[in-house]
Amino acid sequence: MSLETLILAAGKGTRMKSKLPKVLHKVGGKPMLQHVIDAAKKAGSSREVVVIGSGAQLVEKEIKGVEFVLQEEQLGTGHAVLSAKKNFAQSEGTVLILCGDTPLLTGELLKNFVAAHESSTCAATVLTAKMPDAIGYGRIIRDTDGTFKKIVEEKDATDLEKKIKEVNAGCYCFDVQKLFGALDKVNNDNAQGEYYLPDVLTILKDAGEQIGAFTAEYAIETLGINDRVQLAAADRAIRMRKEKVLMEAGVTIIDPNTTFIDDDVQIGQDTIIYPNTYIEGNTVIGEDCAIGPNIRFTDMIVGNKVTAQFSYCHEAEICDGVTLGPYVHIRPGTTIGKNVKVGNFVEVKNSNVGEGSKLPHLQYIGDTDMGSGVNVGCGTVTCNYDGKKKYRTTIGDNAFIGCNTNLVAPVTVEEGAYIAAGSTITKDVPKDNLAVARARQTNIEVWNDKRK
Ligand code: UD1
Ligand code: CA
Repeated sequence: MSLETLILAAGKGTRMKSKLPKVLHKVGGKPMLQHVIDAAKKAGSSREVVVIGSGAQLVEKEIKGVEFVLQEEQLGTGHAVLSAKKNFAQSEGTVLILCGDTPLLTGELLKNFVAAHESSTCAATVLTAKMPDAIGYGRIIRDTDGTFKKIVEEKDATDLEKKIKEVNAGCYCFDVQKLFGALDKVNNDNAQGEYYLPDVLTILKDAGEQIGAFTAEYAIETLGINDRVQLAAADRAIRMRKEKVLMEAGVTIIDPNTTFIDDDVQIGQDTIIYPNTYIEGNTVIGEDCAIGPNIRFTDMIVGNKVTAQFSYCHEAEICDGVTLGPYVHIRPGTTIGKNVKVGNFVEVKNSNVGEGSKLPHLQYIGDTDMGSGVNVGCGTVTCNYDGKKKYRTTIGDNAFIGCNTNLVAPVTVEEGAYIAAGSTITKDVPKDNLAVARARQTNIEVWNDKRK
């Protein structure tokens, strides 16, 4: 039977002290809630219902591919589940309940958790973790025989109960019909005046049902994020995990502590990542590259054998064998062809640069289609903007653009053409022609030198 998941994400996240809903805060470059959804999907979930409330519109805008249900007032986790009752009216078997603020959950942990529940006769199973620092979590109270007794929230706990290190991770498997059958009986008679979801476990137990408690092997995977200190800890943990996966797959990371790789990034074998490097979004990097130091790649497609240092590149493609940097800005919509050299203070925007072309120093190339084997001299500028509209520049294969050339778009420099240094090109240059567009030099022998 297919697994259905309910994710609680309506809370204000008061302790974050943020204008942004807590579950949209990013760890590893991705909203916390998205991590939870991804983990559920990896565990085999085929339907995710997300309870939203605080900042609901923002959450709906950011998160795709799930069903939303609105909890108008945030009266507690039990009340949040109740607001989704209608969504599960037709459901049977297990519903997996998760919190939107536990981004380190893994598909594997959830899969094992669900399997343990389903192979038992329990009406509900709660995921627990042994936390070295249990402050803030609900504590798991077990009977003398070790079976689950109840969960006590931090604010309701006695001093003795507070010493317990086993905590409620906020993940549950429920027999869906038994859950909604008992949920109405939850009251808000507690320190926070909230309807606590964990109270359903006690209600079911008192009705004679068995309740399981499954302990996560790695407590860190159940970390709940309530404030920005925990946010930073989760970010670190998720990045370390990502880097470990990459290193195990054959990527060298010189200094994992100063390397920041987002969770969805892919990097090929034998690529070396040098320090102070940020690889973000959906960036894909090929094999045998040397990336960094000091690189920021966001949503980039990068081929094999690319060398890049001290540069920022976003939403663009860099093909095999390219040498990039230092101090390059590659902007959206750009494709840098095979074996191209781009370096030393060069900006390229919304342009195609053909195979083997050279942009070695101090160029601005915008809205340009450049062929292969082009040599662009130092200081060349494509003048693509007249103050109102942008125009394209076309440069044919093997053209030679002399230093300090202005190419006033729209303009075409045909294949093999040669432009003299210092030219301002406003007319098309035919194939193999030499274009000189600058004032001739005059040397004046007798003149009034005011310095004398
Ligand atoms: C909750 C658990 C606690 C557990 C911890 C694990 C309860 C009462 N306590 O505490 O036992 O150790 O998680 O991290 O369940 N939410 C709603 N609507 C609400 C209230 C909360 O959707 O009315 C959502 C929040 O957005 C959040 C999740 O439920 O994603 C948990 O709420 P939070 O307030 O963070 O609960 P904790 O105090 O952490
Ligand atoms: Ca929490």
